[in-house]
Amino acid sequence: MPHSVNEDIKITVVGAAGGIGQSLSLLLKTQLASLLPSHRHAHLALYDVNADAVRGVTADLSHIDTGVSVSGYEGDGIGGALEHADVVLIPAGVPRKPGMTREDLLAINAKIIKSLGASIAKYCDLSKVFVLLISNPINSLVPVLVKELEAHAPGLPVERRVFGITRLDAVRASTFLHEATVRAGSTPKSNTLPYVPVIGGHSGETIVPLFSLVPGASDLSKDTLKELVHRVQYGGDEVVKAKNGAGSATLSMAHAAYKVVESFIPLLTGSVPSIEGTFYVALQDSKGQPINASAQKLLSHINGLPYFAVPLRVTSAGVDEVDAGIIERMSLFERERLLAPCLGKLQGNISTGLSL
Ligand code: NAI
Repeated sequence: MPHSVNEDIKITVVGAAGGIGQSLSLLLKTQLASLLPSHRHAHLALYDVNADAVRGVTADLSHIDTGVSVSGYEGDGIGGALEHADVVLIPAGVPRKPGMTREDLLAINAKIIKSLGASIAKYCDLSKVFVLLISNPINSLVPVLVKELEAHAPGLPVERRVFGITRLDAVRASTFLHEATVRAGSTPKSNTLPYVPVIGGHSGETIVPLFSLVPGASDLSKDTLKELVHRVQYGGDEVVKAKNGAGSATLSMAHAAYKVVESFIPLLTGSVPSIEGTFYVALQDSKGQPINASAQKLLSHINGLPYFAVPLRVTSAGVDEVDAGIIERMSLFERERLLAPCLGKLQGNISTGLSL
């Protein structure tokens, strides 16, 4: 069914026939309607370069009995998928195989992201759309995408509309902390797992989980906490290894991305003026100026790195206030042993992205 301009909320998945794309599209098709007030309607647009696969996924999902309508696009039909989109989710590209780092994916995925950036600039309303990037390496590809959008839309604050999705790191941190707490003998008081803020980037040492800010985590031994940090930083490798050549995390990633979309819905329906979340975002505009005073403060704590994952507020205008104070609230161990190496590595990843 083609999407009409009058439909309320349009979510587009680019790379919808892939491992993440399929699982994420299933979650959106089955859950989106329940997040909306009864008079609002959601449309799911699926795009992939793999024509047969996206046709199959679209037909399959369209038989699911929810009020979310679905349409599929392939090849040069990307315009139909992108026009009028409120949110564009991008899990397009190649995933890791054993022995590969996220950086090994850079050359091929950067090409894909540049071309998608040009299409987004052509077909989306850049004063309205939120672009959520999942493809790796996030640390370098968010700069690639922001640069591409800026080149096509000079003068527009497009950098505030691009969000690198690092949520899977927080999902893992929460799960691993819960397991460690249970192993240490405590009985969870509820089914809700603890939330662990994770800042920095989305690759190895650039991932900085802040267990010191989680009530209860301080009961764990220093060694256990160090093991937890390492497991969060390299948790993706566990999945890559277990899949033994068949790719990287897809189901847990789809869950993480779905949670992000879920958090955006109240903003999209206008029921709240802002939402909060942790994303890897640009802190400077195309002229190299901080996007706002809070970003300026954060920049002074992180050696002026122009991209960083940090808890922040999102309004209809995009990235708003960032939580610069989180650097002051983290423990000395986290600042000296985790943040310092993160900044060094991230600097390299960002420079690589900007040089492409
Ligand atoms: P996959 O190979 O199963 O799916 C990728 C899909 O993208 C395929 O269907 C392919 O046809 C499509 N595609 C390729 N070029 C395209 C283009 N130009 N336009 C539209 N679609 C295109 O890969 P998977 O496992 O779904 O992973 C996708 C990406 O997500 C990878 O880069 C992976 O590293 C990344 N990822 C990110 C995570 C995160 O935490 N942000 C976690 C796990 C994976």
